[in-house]
Amino acid sequence: MTTDFLILHSRRSSVVLECPPDEAPLWRYWGPRLPDSATPGTALRDTRPLPSFMLDFDQPLTVAPTFGVGWFGQSALLAHRDGQDFAQAFTRCDVEWLQQDAAGSALCLHLHDDVARLRLDLTLRLDAASDVLVLQSVLHNLGDAPLDVQWLAAGTLQLPGHCDSVRSYAGQHVHEFMLQVDPLTRSLWRKESRRGRTSHDCFPGAVVTTPGTTDDTGLVFGAHLAWSGNHQQTVEWLHDGLYQWQMGEWLAPGEGRLLPGQALHSPELVATCSTAGLNGLAANFHTELRRRLNWPGGAMKPRPVHLNTWEGFYFDVHPGPVQELATAAAAVGIERFVLDDGWFHGRHHDRAALGDWWPDETKFPNGLGALIAHVNALGMEFGLWVEPEMVNPDSDLFRAHPEWALQIAGRPLLTARNQLVLDIARPEASDYLFEKIAALLAAHPIGYLKWDLNRDLAPAGLANGTAGYRAQIHAAYALMDRLRAAHPNVEIESCSGGGGRIDFGVLRHTHRVWTSDCIDALSRVDIQRGFLQFFPPEIMGAHVGTAPSHTTGRTQSMAFRAAVALPGHLGVELDVRQLNDADTAELRGWIDVYKQLRDRLHHGRVWLGEGGDGLRWQLHGDEAASDLVLLVLRPLPSSHRYTPTLRLPMLDPAARYRVREVLPAGTVRPTGRHHTAPFFDAINTPEGLVLDGAWLAHAGLPMPRTQAETAFLVRLERV
Ligand code: GLA
Repeated sequence: MTTDFLILHSRRSSVVLECPPDEAPLWRYWGPRLPDSATPGTALRDTRPLPSFMLDFDQPLTVAPTFGVGWFGQSALLAHRDGQDFAQAFTRCDVEWLQQDAAGSALCLHLHDDVARLRLDLTLRLDAASDVLVLQSVLHNLGDAPLDVQWLAAGTLQLPGHCDSVRSYAGQHVHEFMLQVDPLTRSLWRKESRRGRTSHDCFPGAVVTTPGTTDDTGLVFGAHLAWSGNHQQTVEWLHDGLYQWQMGEWLAPGEGRLLPGQALHSPELVATCSTAGLNGLAANFHTELRRRLNWPGGAMKPRPVHLNTWEGFYFDVHPGPVQELATAAAAVGIERFVLDDGWFHGRHHDRAALGDWWPDETKFPNGLGALIAHVNALGMEFGLWVEPEMVNPDSDLFRAHPEWALQIAGRPLLTARNQLVLDIARPEASDYLFEKIAALLAAHPIGYLKWDLNRDLAPAGLANGTAGYRAQIHAAYALMDRLRAAHPNVEIESCSGGGGRIDFGVLRHTHRVWTSDCIDALSRVDIQRGFLQFFPPEIMGAHVGTAPSHTTGRTQSMAFRAAVALPGHLGVELDVRQLNDADTAELRGWIDVYKQLRDRLHHGRVWLGEGGDGLRWQLHGDEAASDLVLLVLRPLPSSHRYTPTLRLPMLDPAARYRVREVLPAGTVRPTGRHHTAPFFDAINTPEGLVLDGAWLAHAGLPMPRTQAETAFLVRLERV
């Protein structure tokens, strides 16, 4: 008996589907690269005796499992037509190859249900270089009555049965990317977010591990929904001991209504697997995101050092002090000066003014021109904070158009941070926002918008009384695109009370994210490590904040604050005028080091790891491991008499490396025999020490004996 298989290969992974006639393709394999010649050999059903008390046929997992074929697990589709057509079954599949070349493979499976009169077009794209598999579903209503869709999976993935845990990220405002590790058992794992944005609370993505997974070894799978709205993901144990993994948009009641002839497009599901552990997986996601980012001019420019006014001034942005701050900022090496909240009409606190996007007449009677000219004259670019999707009830905009707020007639308006959400799917509302923001961009050389979104959507009622979560996200993307088309040189940051809108969807339209409103360096260590599992460092907004930190009250040294922020897109968020001379010099020293290292930090690989005695380290380097920057952080006090060496298994054992400590000007390294030893003096010289790659990989690099909340920065270059 002959069986048709669809086989897609990338550099290090393969996908194998089986195509029996008259049904959706069966999942056979997703995992490490198989040889070109490998095939399953036999049809899946020919290998599986039928158990008792089952349907009289075998129904394995398909790429789009549905109710109507006798599938008892999570369905990829839940829909009905006024109660009819509730159990779909795809009984025909047309395969359309979209791509089969050195860059990758892509195909579209056209799945037909002629009884329920619908078609699902499921696209799978496997990128040859990054091993990233992107799935997307488009459901067409071919019937003559509306189809109500409750759930449409962006994709359904098969995971091997020896997967043992799922790593996901929970959180809240100022606590993003809190790692949760749940064991996979013979049950259903589910995560949902209905907050109307990506959310601080529930990241739309996860990593599934197999036994023995480490940072650098072991088979791991990762998936992320490229979407900034509601979402749902499940991992479910199946009767053959495998798991299925679904991810998609969580649709509010009524949101998935398709009129005859209409289609519902799911977001993209971005998935990948690696045999090189968590760091291997991160590298794949980083490659994919870098491919997607849409930079002004077509390529990323070196990431300019920011100064953001928020924690220095809050709403109190008056031209005199702000100009003084700009002068002080330029003197320490700042390259982009961002005027945060507080600049627009009537904005003196968080209770009023959102929506009135023109300069406040009391603070800036002659507009922003003089400030921007001052900033530019100092050699810095100017950036501006906006929160377009929001309105305060106390604003001229709301007084003129109370009907523009998302609301449900007859129910009270639910405010958050005293604000409401504008229904920007209304063309007149998005036209208003476009005109107001475009006018500012046209009038001034503004190179950057910090685009905020400071509340959840609750409830997102449109003018016709239906749910508008989905419409809101598409309208936000469209507004960003419209502004970018009109002003192509402007970069946008996605901020949402810190990290409430960080995802591959919004990053098609933006260029940086504000990782968290928490700038405490100790808290940032974990937040940024969670972030780096999916996102590359160059888009990670990372600032040197105040001491004590405004969100935690903890105080850290300038060196620790700067070192933690260094590998990301560096910024400063404090009143530089208030720093003493030593801190000013040290900050300038770290900014200089950032400028020297940013090309290395922001391209290539990132390896994260944990050393002995509580050390946390990250290594940024090229794939060939010939030019590397190692940042070692000690968050907590040492409990060892002698600090263990740090093994760096990614180094080339056949190579030798010049090892030099990077010590920014102004930084004082502790001296005395309890803190240092001759080795550390030797690497703190222009010539450093040349050490053996195999030794560093297997025996390790000596580590200094340091106090808590300190950092050690080292450059390793192949000689
Ligand atoms: C949010 C952002 C902050 C700041 C404030 C301004 O909280 O995350 O960085 O811009 O809004 O109101």
